[in-house]
Amino acid sequence: MSENILKVSGLQVAYGGIKAVKGLDLEVNRGELVTLIGANGAGKTTTLKAITGTLPPCRIEGEILYLGQPLRGTQSFRMVQQKLAMVPEGRGVFTRMTIHENLLMGAYTRNDKAGIAADVDKWYAVFPRLKERSAQLAGTLSGGEQQMLAMARALMCHPTLLLLDEPSMGLSPIMVEKIFEVIRDVSRQGITMLLVEQNAKLALQAADRGYVMESGSLIMTGEAARMLDDPRVQAAYLGE
Ligand SMILES: Nc1ncnc2c1ncn2[C@@H]1O[C@H](COP(=O)(O)OP(=O)(O)OP(=O)(O)O)[C@@H](O)[C@H]1O
Ligand SMILES: [Mg+2]
Repeated sequence: MSENILKVSGLQVAYGGIKAVKGLDLEVNRGELVTLIGANGAGKTTTLKAITGTLPPCRIEGEILYLGQPLRGTQSFRMVQQKLAMVPEGRGVFTRMTIHENLLMGAYTRNDKAGIAADVDKWYAVFPRLKERSAQLAGTLSGGEQQMLAMARALMCHPTLLLLDEPSMGLSPIMVEKIFEVIRDVSRQGITMLLVEQNAKLALQAADRGYVMESGSLIMTGEAARMLDDPRVQAAYLGE
């Protein structure tokens, strides 16, 4: 039987009078790449923030279980220790630290020095641009370069679950390809991921399962390959 890494039940989030999430049920099993797609304002980022406990003050209802335990209210620093990592919308790198320091920060809960050094080298091999600029302040990197760094940093903690919020946003077509290549690679290595994307086609092509969110509610879920063939998904999200 597949092991539940994340189980969200009846999640509701309201900002003041605005209901952003209206009763969402979602599961991610070990080793799966699950994608959550939907239009602007559908409630995708709100859902990820509810999982990571990083929402601004608002009303939250429902249950979020991570490895079978409630996660609600968990602070970010505890998240890393529980090997739950997130690459937020808009990247969130430490702008006043160098690229190298950012990567080491990602591994701060680890103490296997040789393993950390090997991982840094691995990410420099995947993203040579970061290696060339390893001593540069992260805040001076281009948007796409910051996105690469944010992914690499999140993976430095060897997460049990990686949450990605629109990793392709603002990237050139070649960089979008590269980021998705990395996502597929990381997935093949067995890391469990929940991927929020505007690029529904690439996300569904990479994912095992998908969920479609509209105005705070899920309107569809299923195997990603089937969703790609679904005329409703094609019309609304794939521009076909
Ligand atoms: N801090 C906030 N205060 C009030 N309303 C908010 C806040 N954050 C989000 N909202 C509202 O909640 C709804 C869902 O927003 P959310 O950011 O979750 O959407 P999204 O699916 O991630 O969209 P996008 O694809 O544009 O990133 C939107 O209507 C948004 O205006
Ligand atoms: Mg968002």
